[in-house]
Amino acid sequence: MVKLVETSLRDGHQSLFATRMTTEEVVKLAKIYDNAGFYALEVWGGATFDSAMRFLNEDPWERLRADRKACPKTKQQMLFRGQNILGYRHYSDDVVDMFVKKSIENGIDIIRVFDALNDIRNLRQAVESTKKYGGECQIALSYTTSPVHTINYYVSLAKEVQQLGADSLCIKDMAGVLVPEDATKLIKAIKKEISIPLELHSHCTAGVCEMTYMAAIKAGVDIVDTSVSPLSNGTAQPSTQALCTALKGTKFDPQINLSVIHEAEPIVTDIVNKYVKNGLLNPKSLQINPNILTYQVPGGMLSNMIKQLTDQNAMDRYEEVLREIPAVRKDLGYPPLVTPMSQMVGTQAVLNVLNGERYKMVLKEVKDYLHGHYGKSPAPVNEEVRKKIIGDDEIITCRPADLLEPEFEKLKEQYKDLARSDEDVLSLALFESVATAFLKKKYQEDTVETEEFEMFI
Ligand code: CO
Repeated sequence: MVKLVETSLRDGHQSLFATRMTTEEVVKLAKIYDNAGFYALEVWGGATFDSAMRFLNEDPWERLRADRKACPKTKQQMLFRGQNILGYRHYSDDVVDMFVKKSIENGIDIIRVFDALNDIRNLRQAVESTKKYGGECQIALSYTTSPVHTINYYVSLAKEVQQLGADSLCIKDMAGVLVPEDATKLIKAIKKEISIPLELHSHCTAGVCEMTYMAAIKAGVDIVDTSVSPLSNGTAQPSTQALCTALKGTKFDPQINLSVIHEAEPIVTDIVNKYVKNGLLNPKSLQINPNILTYQVPGGMLSNMIKQLTDQNAMDRYEEVLREIPAVRKDLGYPPLVTPMSQMVGTQAVLNVLNGERYKMVLKEVKDYLHGHYGKSPAPVNEEVRKKIIGDDEIITCRPADLLEPEFEKLKEQYKDLARSDEDVLSLALFESVATAFLKKKYQEDTVETEEFEMFI
């Protein structure tokens, strides 16, 4: 039997309509999914946190507590970007620890931790804290293809992951570029070397995901990630119902109660229709794009790039930029194209082409990366390029967070006028301007309510 993790409540809407599902919608579905027999529901982390405050005027911590209440039987899972937590810089260990503690306290069971560069050192604190507070810790390895990202590379990392104490391992194919034959080889090779459960997370973006899942399942993968349709496919995960039906009667049958899912379908359909109508779900996201298998560029990165070129009135340079992306990636030591590396590589490629000279203008983030501030690159960077960009500057080779002093107490002091809980401090630490605006509004409303209440005493 293969187990399923249901992703529509996090990755599903993040991939299809910019993470705009509201807490009310999420909770309504979580309540039903609780009876379906999923191994876990992915409900939190990734972009849900920022998006709740920025676009929905909702407290992400409240969503988590509401989810937990609505869905008491099924494990709740979140996505956590190692030392970056859910933000874009490296945080000190005590902030990582506090975020893990509060996530578990508020209702998370499984934390899926990953690092864009697969630098294991950037995962260590999150793993340690998850175990300390009684959570289930999954480490995800970012999947990509390059001369260094061989099967042996993933097998040796998988062994390290198991040694580190992870409860399970996930191959996270964010771009959807894993093809069936490679999946068979990869899953078989990893399963031979580790005893913890192995999960596969991929996207339908390139149009091969269902075939890849089938190959992975036959090769012995223990868990796959799917999403209840119609909130599935396109740039999101394959359909939960379709996979269950395809596996029915086989030894892999996930044994999901489909009559429970049928109950949810009209609600899911209404939600999807709402986002089609308001324009947040671009029909393009529902189409497959096999070209990403050639360019190895994730779908989100392509649309970002098209926007940058259109803004610059330079769409005629599109093919040139597409060719420049693999060149920049090679110069940087083949980072997997996942946040924040995908934005960095994509934007730098656009700059290189539009400026008519490579690395004439360089992103600050690329400079930081070349200084070692994101961790170790998968392959050595191009030294000529590094020299051109940062000269003889010192390069750090330690774990980047080793250079950070504990900062939680400082943050608490800094935000003492606004934060009313440690959760608030964490929201402010991760997304300062968004959380400041959100919390000001939230507590102002509270104050108004209190005054009204007092008038009636
Ligand atoms: Co994903």
